[in-house]
Amino acid sequence: MIARVRELQAQGAEILELTAGEPDFRPPEVAEKAAMEAIQAGKGRYTPASGTMALRQAAANWIESDFGLRYSPREVIVCPGAKIGISQALLALIRSGDEVLIPTPSWTSYPEMVRIAEGVPVMVPCDRNHLPDLEALEAARTSATKAILINSPCNPTGAVWPKDRLKALGEWALAHDLWVISDEIYAHLVYGDNRHDSPMALVPELQQRAVWIGGMSKAYAMTGWRIGFAAAPEALAKTIGGLQSQLASCPNSISQIASLAALQHGGEARQQMRQAFENRCRLVSERLAIMPGLECPAPQGAFYAFPRLQDSILGRRDPATGRQIQSGDDFIEVLLEADQVALMGGTAFGEPTAFRISFAASETVLTDALDRIAGRLQAIQNSGND
Ligand SMILES: Cc1ncc(COP(=O)(O)O)c(C=O)c1O
Repeated sequence: MIARVRELQAQGAEILELTAGEPDFRPPEVAEKAAMEAIQAGKGRYTPASGTMALRQAAANWIESDFGLRYSPREVIVCPGAKIGISQALLALIRSGDEVLIPTPSWTSYPEMVRIAEGVPVMVPCDRNHLPDLEALEAARTSATKAILINSPCNPTGAVWPKDRLKALGEWALAHDLWVISDEIYAHLVYGDNRHDSPMALVPELQQRAVWIGGMSKAYAMTGWRIGFAAAPEALAKTIGGLQSQLASCPNSISQIASLAALQHGGEARQQMRQAFENRCRLVSERLAIMPGLECPAPQGAFYAFPRLQDSILGRRDPATGRQIQSGDDFIEVLLEADQVALMGGTAFGEPTAFRISFAASETVLTDALDRIAGRLQAIQNSGND
């Protein structure tokens, strides 16, 4: 989709892009300033493979204050992005043929990461509200199941899993000796009355069977700086650090200094960004709730909405392009061609009738794009059945 958008842009088309997986904000000023000073002071050398002790300590403090989880700095590995943190955790935990449960819709990279670790991804559909379905998870569990990979707030659905569901999931995982990899990268982007909880805070014994994943990308708008954190029991953290030492040598040293400054002094910038996303989330939810032909559990976190097309749209032909809409992927192609709005299709996230809207875009762009989406849905609905 991104390649197609670039192609159309090169031909002069003005596309409203709601595809971004990263905040459209600057990092906290303190982080940028610290990085510039670090470069000038010649700090661009290797650091210890698992990150500087100062940043590991600061991350441990952050995980305790914001997530209620106590880790020693030795149990926190600074990684070159949360993504590598997840992959390294899987490489450390999974042996060939081990199964990893992944509630879907889910981030596209998860199944591939499991395969790289020679594991078998087992995709388990969530319920209609995009919350994990414990009965379905239990039905999918076998003697080969080693871990479950979870993500709340969720990319692509924007769902924030409620406390009781997370607690039940944590207790279930513990009872069956499963490892939990909890990707909490969007934890600071939660809206309205919703609260983020870590399953390990709700089921404390689970911390010994879990890897907590977080980082700077989404919370501090530092995606390209490539700093994430993996926190795990000490023996596992050591294995993850050992892998990282051979794979990456260390995370970027200048980014580590910038991240330390952001964690220590960037809280206000983070809050301002969260507030802006909350306003956009409200705007998007309100519009989607009254749009014809869509069903969309209201997003509560991250910066995505994931509406499903209803039967009043599926199977019909779009009057402008003549294309039949059989999936969310068909719909977004029509939307790009007819209305110059770029979205992501749901197939890549495990739900073909859906599509993803990112609200990492200005309110003006969002409003314009939502008008065009509504107009297209109306036109398809009015077109009669095919
Ligand atoms: C669910 C999820 N986890 C992890 C990441 C990657 O984070 P990082 O930039 O720290 O590697 C992303 C990025 O889009 C994501 O959506």
